[in-house]
Amino acid sequence: MPPLLHPKPGKDGVRRFELSMQAGQTQILAGKQTPTWGFNGTFLGPTLRASRGDKVQMAVRNQLPEVSTVHWHGMRLPARMDGGPHQPIEPGTVWTPHWTIDQPAATSWYHPHPHGTTAQHVYRGLAGMFILDDDLDLDLPADYGVNDFPLILQDKKFAADGSFDGDPLKGTFGILGDHILVNGTFNPHLTVTTERVRFRVLNGSNARMYTLAFADKRRFHVVANDGGLLSTPVEVEAFSLTPGERAEIIVAFAPREQVVLRTTDNGVDIGKGDFDLLKLIAADELKPTPDIPARLVPLTPITAPAGAKVRRFKLSGHDAINGKEMNMARIDEVVPAGATEIWEIENNVYSHNFHIHEVAFQVLEIDGSAPPAYAVGYKDTVYVPSKSVVRLAVQFGSFTDAASPYMYHCHILRHEDSGMMGQFVIVKPGT
Ligand code: C2O
Ligand code: CU
Repeated sequence: MPPLLHPKPGKDGVRRFELSMQAGQTQILAGKQTPTWGFNGTFLGPTLRASRGDKVQMAVRNQLPEVSTVHWHGMRLPARMDGGPHQPIEPGTVWTPHWTIDQPAATSWYHPHPHGTTAQHVYRGLAGMFILDDDLDLDLPADYGVNDFPLILQDKKFAADGSFDGDPLKGTFGILGDHILVNGTFNPHLTVTTERVRFRVLNGSNARMYTLAFADKRRFHVVANDGGLLSTPVEVEAFSLTPGERAEIIVAFAPREQVVLRTTDNGVDIGKGDFDLLKLIAADELKPTPDIPARLVPLTPITAPAGAKVRRFKLSGHDAINGKEMNMARIDEVVPAGATEIWEIENNVYSHNFHIHEVAFQVLEIDGSAPPAYAVGYKDTVYVPSKSVVRLAVQFGSFTDAASPYMYHCHILRHEDSGMMGQFVIVKPGT
């Protein structure tokens, strides 16, 4: 279980989180040492947690032998604090972004974003969760490590000596591993002590898509997407996540039962294979938990006004959007502060997905059909199936800065690194 990182109190009520990126060795497979990278440890990173209204400051120290960055995926914040490729942290230096948390409760995460080496840095182990709370008092399991657990899913390949194998920049998708780690652990199990448990599931993989279900086909509820809670819980038997996407689920258990969380082959190029992910073992006695509330949050739909700007993005091959490879010196789109726009993503080839920094969006259509009921909430990353068009209603924030771009890109890291990424700035309306 990733530990919670306790912030230090700073000036003016600021909460200061200290992260250090470092290299080391981790035992993942029995009797083998794997060279890995981590935050405040050798592999993955601690869970950060903050509440709406908190002023946070990060102090990110780079103790790696090369330049990296740390991006706050899903965070609504000024572009200079975003941690994309324009905020490099040189080895031996400390980066100290700060902002005020101002968005609904959500499960977000953090990971490196240096252009061209994101896939390698994430694959080596740099990733962590960032849980956001707000003051809407909901009766959902929220006791971290007791009835509220992060599940960071990542697939790896191992060489005979225990080191990570495979080149994250080779082939159509880079890494599609055959060992799936949960919170950095292979073949994990977890003892459940309450009648209901909340799992915050993050697909932190380089390319793999998961279709998650329990071996006994029990039904459970999805209560949140990337950007926060849904308006009502959605009962499902399975749900899918592509890289970068998150969902929160609530699962009920009976005393002494055992069940395995699995991913099943969904027939898609990035979702091949059946794997057991996590064995859950219910204790002899389970502490009672309240029923899931029938209503969660009053979710205001993101609606683009009549005549809203429509932007079209064509994903071609694995390295370009609208025929252009990522260029850090080029601004691709200029968006007025506070705008709601329609973004239309077209994919004529194999699987991609699409992530937009800073924003919240809702998926309007996937190839003319509504998205699955469990994926109608606020999101920042969406699957764009092969040969399809996805329409999004995108709500932009108001941190204007014509000189600092935010990114949009495919979150299959092999694609992102090879140029399937673009840049937008948010400017004062009318400029
Ligand atoms: Cu999860 Cu641009 O990143
Ligand atoms: Cu892609």
